[in-house]
Amino acid sequence: MDIRTEFTDLLGEIEDEMRVVLGERDGHARPLYEMLAYHLGIDKREGPRGKRIRPLLGLLVYQALTDDYRTALPGAAAVELGHNFSLVHDDIEDGDLERRHRPTLWAIWGIPLAINAGDALFALSRLALYRLLEGEEKVSADRVLSLMRIYDETCLALCEGQFLDISFERRTDISLAEYHEMIGKKTAALLGASAQAGAILATDDQETIDAFQRFGYDMGLAFQMADDVKGTFWSAEESGKASAGDVRKRKKTLPVVWAFENATDEDQERLRRIYAPRIRATDGAFAPDVDPLLGDAKVAEVIAILERSGARTYAEGEARRCRDRALATVAALPIASERRAELASLIETSIAV
Ligand code: IPE
Ligand code: IPE
Ligand code: MG
Ligand code: MG
Repeated sequence: MDIRTEFTDLLGEIEDEMRVVLGERDGHARPLYEMLAYHLGIDKREGPRGKRIRPLLGLLVYQALTDDYRTALPGAAAVELGHNFSLVHDDIEDGDLERRHRPTLWAIWGIPLAINAGDALFALSRLALYRLLEGEEKVSADRVLSLMRIYDETCLALCEGQFLDISFERRTDISLAEYHEMIGKKTAALLGASAQAGAILATDDQETIDAFQRFGYDMGLAFQMADDVKGTFWSAEESGKASAGDVRKRKKTLPVVWAFENATDEDQERLRRIYAPRIRATDGAFAPDVDPLLGDAKVAEVIAILERSGARTYAEGEARRCRDRALATVAALPIASERRAELASLIETSIAV
C-alpha cells in the first residue's frame, strides 16, 4: 500500500491545518500565498504533492503515546512547512528545474521571488507552532517554548548540512564520516526532531523521548541514503526530477563517496579526473562561481563505475541497515502493537531499498 492510501485521513487534516496557516493572510501580497500553495501541492485537492513523511511521523508518535493525534496537528503543519522552506531554497541551490513531477518554484517565478517565498515559509512554520497554544487541548507555554528551541536548532543543523552538501561539490576527498555528518544535519535532524516533538507533546519521560528521536534520526539517515540512490540511478519518470541530477551536479552522495575509496585504482583515478574542480579560488577554498555540470558522457561513465564497483549495492545495503535499526527501535518501544505497525509501515512505504 502507498502512503497516501494508508494515511488518507491524517494527510487530509495535515493539509487543512496548513491551509489555515496560509489562509489567515490577506492584502495585495495574497499571490505570495498562492505560490506557496503551489509548491506545497495544496492548490488542488488532487495532484502532485509531498509525501508528508515528517508530519506523519510526528502525529503517529503522538498517537502511539496518547491514542489521539489532533492536539499535535499544529506541530505537524509546522514541520511540513519547515521542510518545504528548505526545499524551495534547495532547488535554487541545486539548480533543479523539476520536483514532484512539476516545475520548481524558481523555475516559474524566478530566483528573487523564490528566495522570498522560502523565507515566508520559514516564518510561517514558526508561526504554525504557536497554534499549539490555542487548540482545544491547550499545550503549555513551557512545552511550546521547548519545541521552538528544538525547531530552531534543527533549522540551523539543516543549514550546516546544506553548507556541507554544497561545499562538497568541489571536493574529491570526502570521508564517510563527513558524509554521515552532512546527511545527519541536512535530513536526519528534521526527521529526528519530528518524532521527538511528537513524544515531547505526549510525555515527560526522557527515555521515551530519546528513543523516538533516535528512531526518527535513523529513519532520516536511511531516507537520505535511499534518496542518493534515487538521484543517481533512477529515471526521471520514476523520481519526478531530472535523471542522475546528483551526478551531474557533482554531489558527494553515498555511492560516489564509497567508490572514491573502494573502486579499482584505475576507476578511482578516473573519478578523480572527472570530478576535479575546474574553477579555483585565487585566495582560499571557495570560489564564487560553481563548476560546470558534468556532461552526458561523463555522467554515463560515473554511473558505469558506480555499478561495476558495487557502490550502488553498498549504498542500498547501508540504507537498509539504518532502516532496520529504526525498525528495531520501534519494535522495542512499549506501545500498542497496532501503533507499532503503523510506524513500521511509514518506514517501509517511504524508504524503497
Ligand atoms: C526530499 O524529501 C528531500 C530529502 C530530504 C531527500 P522528501 O522526499 O520527503 O520530499 P517530499 O516532500 O515528499 O517531496
Ligand atoms: C535534501 O537535499 C535536504 C534538504 C532539502 C535540506 P537534496 O538536495 O539531497 O534533496 P532532493 O533530492 O533535492 O529532494
Ligand atoms: Mg540539495
Ligand atoms: Mg536538491
